[in-house]
Amino acid sequence: MSVYLTAINRLRIVKVREIKRESPTVKTITFHDKFCAKAEPGQFVMVWIPGVDEVPMSLSTMRSDGRCSITVGEVGEATKALHQRKLGETLGIRGPYGNSFTLANGNVMIVGGGTGLAPFIPLAEKLMGLSTRIFFVLGAKTHSELLFLQRIKTVLSKVDGRVIATTEDGSYGLKGVATDPAREILEKETFDMIYTCGPEQMMYKMLVLAERYRTPLQASLERLMRCAIGLCGSCVIGKFMVCKDGPVFSDEQLREVKDEFGRFKMGRTGKKVGI
Ligand SMILES: Cc1cc2nc3c(=O)[nH]c(=O)nc-3n(C[C@H](O)[C@H](O)[C@H](O)COP(=O)(O)OP(=O)(O)OC[C@H]3O[C@@H](n4cnc5c(N)ncnc54)[C@H](O)[C@@H]3O)c2cc1C
Ligand code: FES
Repeated sequence: MSVYLTAINRLRIVKVREIKRESPTVKTITFHDKFCAKAEPGQFVMVWIPGVDEVPMSLSTMRSDGRCSITVGEVGEATKALHQRKLGETLGIRGPYGNSFTLANGNVMIVGGGTGLAPFIPLAEKLMGLSTRIFFVLGAKTHSELLFLQRIKTVLSKVDGRVIATTEDGSYGLKGVATDPAREILEKETFDMIYTCGPEQMMYKMLVLAERYRTPLQASLERLMRCAIGLCGSCVIGKFMVCKDGPVFSDEQLREVKDEFGRFKMGRTGKKVGI
């Protein structure tokens, strides 16, 4: 048997059990899968939409009873087709793949934007037992696109935590981008870890801040993915493959790929394109 035909690599057909609209462009789709239920925060699945495409998605819920979810932003053909899925219809799933966030003790800061916040709910739930304080900074373009505020407040009600929301149009919270309050907080307070996921320019700014304030950082990267098992090379960034070596990278690793991080990714034709 090929080493690649392991249980997690086999395509499983799952039923859509619940659909929740999170914002005008984002939906959370719940399904049951025993392998995904055991995934760690930061791991992702490949989701197959028959006749359309197969795309990577972070797991936004993993419950011991098998209930799992993905939180999907509508950007192109595959994500549009996922948004059109109805209750009881099926999807193909393989994975979970990739590494996960390393859990840190102490005072942690989580900076997320858009659907990049998806892996941070399960991460915050795990950190609850470890971290003394969790500081969430969320960013979105508008109030209606701000994700998971209620779920985050529920998690933070059980731990010493604080949440700051930013919107680019000022329709909720602070006007601006998430990196602005993050910088102000880092000027005043010491953190043991920064976690970030979202637009790569945002993560790049957070890496610069992490270096300035000598704070370790973990960032979850997005690249084009096809195989998700380190064979096709479409997710390459410098010496790393995001599907196998990531998607979570440390500040130290990101410094090794600083010519590409926040600047370039590989496009569908195999040529580098600007980010
Ligand atoms: C490890 C990993 C985890 C991911 N987790 C999530 C998740 O939890 N939720 C989620 O919604 N997405 C997530 N993504 C991104 C998701 O896989 C892509 O958005 C998806 O593949 C787009 O497919 P599409 O066919 O809909 O769009 P495409 O046809 O591929 O793209 C359509 C248009 O949208 C642009 N585009 C593509 N991807 C993005 C993007 N990420 N952001 C903004 N514009 C984009 C393209 O440049 C193009 O112009 C993740 C990606 C990776 C690598
Ligand atoms: S997606 Fe094929 S090597 Fe990463």
